[in-house]
Formats: sequence, C-alpha cells, structure tokens
Amino acid sequence: MLIVNLNPFPELTTERLRLRQILLEDENDFFALRSNPEIMRFIPRPIARTVADAAQLILNINNGIRQNEHITWGISQKSDPKIIGTIGYVRMAKQHYRAEVGYLLSNDYRGKGIMQEALQAVIDYGFQVMKLHSIEGVIDPANTTSARVLERAGFMKEAHFKENQFYNDCFHDTVHYSLLAP
Ligand SMILES: CC(C)(COP(=O)(O)OP(=O)(O)OC[C@H]1O[C@@H](n2cnc3c(N)ncnc32)[C@H](O)[C@@H]1OP(=O)(O)O)[C@@H](O)C(=O)NCCC(=O)NCCS
Repeated sequence: MLIVNLNPFPELTTERLRLRQILLEDENDFFALRSNPEIMRFIPRPIARTVADAAQLILNINNGIRQNEHITWGISQKSDPKIIGTIGYVRMAKQHYRAEVGYLLSNDYRGKGIMQEALQAVIDYGFQVMKLHSIEGVIDPANTTSARVLERAGFMKEAHFKENQFYNDCFHDTVHYSLLAP
C-alpha cells in the first residue's frame, strides 16, 4: 500500500508559477472559479452558489490534505499570490499506487501553457515524491481542451465509458486517460 505524506504542505514552483496551499483568505478567488458555469461545465461537482460554499470546499480540501487522502494546489503566478486555478490529486487509490488528477483555470489565463506547466510539476511530484505508479485523467468526451492538456503531457487514452456518470440531472460518458511512471 502506498504511504502518502502531504504534511507539511508540499508547495511547488515552476518557471512562471507557484502552486500553493489554498487558504480561507482565498475564498473570493476560489469562489470566482467554482461558481463559474463555463469553468465548471465538464466538472462533475456542484457549482458553488455562495462564498460560504467556497469556504466549505477549502476546508474540505485542507482536511483531505491533513489526513493524506487527497490534495489540491492553488495555482498562482510567481508575481501575484491570487489563485487563478487549481490542480490536484482529487482521488487516490493507494492500494494501486494510483491517483486521479483534476484541474481548472480562470478563462483570463488560458492559452498560455499555464496548465501544462502546472500539470508537469504535479506529475513530477506524483511520481518522484509520492511514488505513484500511474496517474489517471477522467474527462468528458466533449472536453477537447482538457484532452489536449493530457495528451501533451504524455497521457494515453485507455477507455471510453458510456453514460457511467450522473450529474447536472443527466448521464454523461467519461473518457479515461492514464500515464505510467517512467
Ligand atoms: C483545460 C484547461 C485547464 C486548459 O488550460 P490552459 O492553460 O489553456 O491549457 P494549456 O496549458 O495546455 O495551454 C495550452 C494552449 O496554450 C498555448 N500556449 C501559449 N503559450 C504557451 C507556452 N508558453 N507553453 C505551452 N503552451 C502555450 C498552446 O499552444 C495551447 O493552445 P492550443 O490548446 O490551442 O493548442 C482550461 O481550459 C480549463 O480550466 N477548462 C475548464 C475546466 C476543465 O474542463 N477542467 C478539466 C476537467 S477534466
């Protein structure tokens, strides 16, 4: 069984980015992301309706980190602490040394390679420090932008499940991508 230790919080840096812990004081920026229907369109999680919903999500994220169960980093630019997106291992199957990556980015910062840069840092951390054997990406088949992010990072499409997820009042297909440890 994989033993994961996420404490102290593993802050990561890349050329342009700082991946840091999301704090309660980030609730407004986090709310802006999690309440935006365009950002949340393909994410099977309820949309945040109030800043209090966002604050509760931040508490849940940090509880998961404390218990070494899952981790989400806030993405900020090195020059500005504002959270412009999130990325994390949102589910872990420790018995299989496997985790599922999930991410989202503010519309204003897309098309600059920011998620690619963040994802590479999270992949490196997952394989080198957490000692994962594989990383999974699960996307809606219509989310071609996210498919490109995964494919550019070397993920392979492995499966397409028909109507296996129910959210926003309907059944959705999911496409499963995976990356094996080098
Ligand atoms: C999916 C998502 C995270 C992609 O974010 P992103 O930062 O735009 O993605 P990337 O880092 O891969 O950026 C790639 C684009 O930037 C361009 N780019 C510009 N400068 C670049 C640079 N320095 N380095 C790399 N790419 C660069 C690339 O050419 C590419 O454009 P293309 O996709 O048209 O070919 C974003 O669209 C999003 O948040 N979507 C909504 C939430 C979501 O669906 N999440 C996934 C759920 S599974």
